[in-house]
Amino acid sequence: MYRELCGRKISPLGVGTWKMGGGDAPDRRHDAEEIAALKLALEAGVTVVDTAEMYGAGHAEELVGKAIEGFPREDLFLISKVLPRNLKRADLKKALHQSLKRLGTEYIDLYLIHWPPADLALVAEGLAAMEEEVARGAIRSIGVSNFDTKEMEFALESLKRTELAANQIEYSLVETSPERDVIPFCEKNKIAVIAYTPLADGKVANIPVVQKVAKSVDHTPIQVALNYLMRRSLPIPKASKPSHLREILGAMGWELSEKEYAAIRSQ
Ligand SMILES: NC(=O)c1ccc[n+]([C@@H]2O[C@H](COP(=O)([O-])OP(=O)(O)OC[C@H]3O[C@@H](n4cnc5c(N)ncnc54)[C@H](OP(=O)(O)O)[C@@H]3O)[C@@H](O)[C@H]2O)c1
Repeated sequence: MYRELCGRKISPLGVGTWKMGGGDAPDRRHDAEEIAALKLALEAGVTVVDTAEMYGAGHAEELVGKAIEGFPREDLFLISKVLPRNLKRADLKKALHQSLKRLGTEYIDLYLIHWPPADLALVAEGLAAMEEEVARGAIRSIGVSNFDTKEMEFALESLKRTELAANQIEYSLVETSPERDVIPFCEKNKIAVIAYTPLADGKVANIPVVQKVAKSVDHTPIQVALNYLMRRSLPIPKASKPSHLREILGAMGWELSEKEYAAIRSQ
């Protein structure tokens, strides 16, 4: 039950951490449950954890750092993101250093620009600084998030020595618009698609065709909705509740048939 990303074997879905450890500011009240949820995912074979310097103003990264203790680092694929306000060379290096410290690791597997800044020139400066960090070994791969096709073209032109490995975008059965342009562009340019908010906060479970297919394949609507996304992306659902997480894990290890996939796609 693996797929390939950045030349690495990873699990076909990852787990997200937005709202773990707080929203825009740290909130330590649920630390124990959130660390336990992440550990449960890792113990079940999930290898990808998505976080960002923004989440809980850094506290989500600290929780990820605690959760991964005891797991072999080389088996994990950690994604983090730099804020658009930190794309100047010195700022990016400082932000990266702080993320590494909070995560308790020497490298980040995939480092993303969280969203495009108003001034695209900053993307070029940020990517150049990231390329230096790839050479130093502090980052393994470089990517972007929330970039449209034009912005991805700009990023592709800016990178000198490194591939643009991924674009993390909102993609779910409630938000299928990336299937029109962003996903085809990524597929053509060998840029991996990472699907955030893949459950649309649970709303995907209410789609009639998803419910119908779920019955016929003996899985839940949430599992069907994630399995659908796994065909063209790496979904990164977030779950703090163990029951939610267990349901998410059941999206792995099987595949929708062509007919079931097409029925959902043409909804
Ligand atoms: N790059 C970006 O700009 C960006 C933007 C947004 C998100 N992200 C990343 O993508 C991750 C996922 O996106 P998201 O957190 O916005 O949304 P999501 O994963 O679609 O939804 C998370 C919500 O769904 C609930 N949930 C989880 N499993 C469920 C289940 N089996 N049944 C019903 N509800 C369930 C969770 O509840 P509990 O937590 O209570 O279990 C949580 O409230 C984030 O955590 C973050 O890492 C990136």
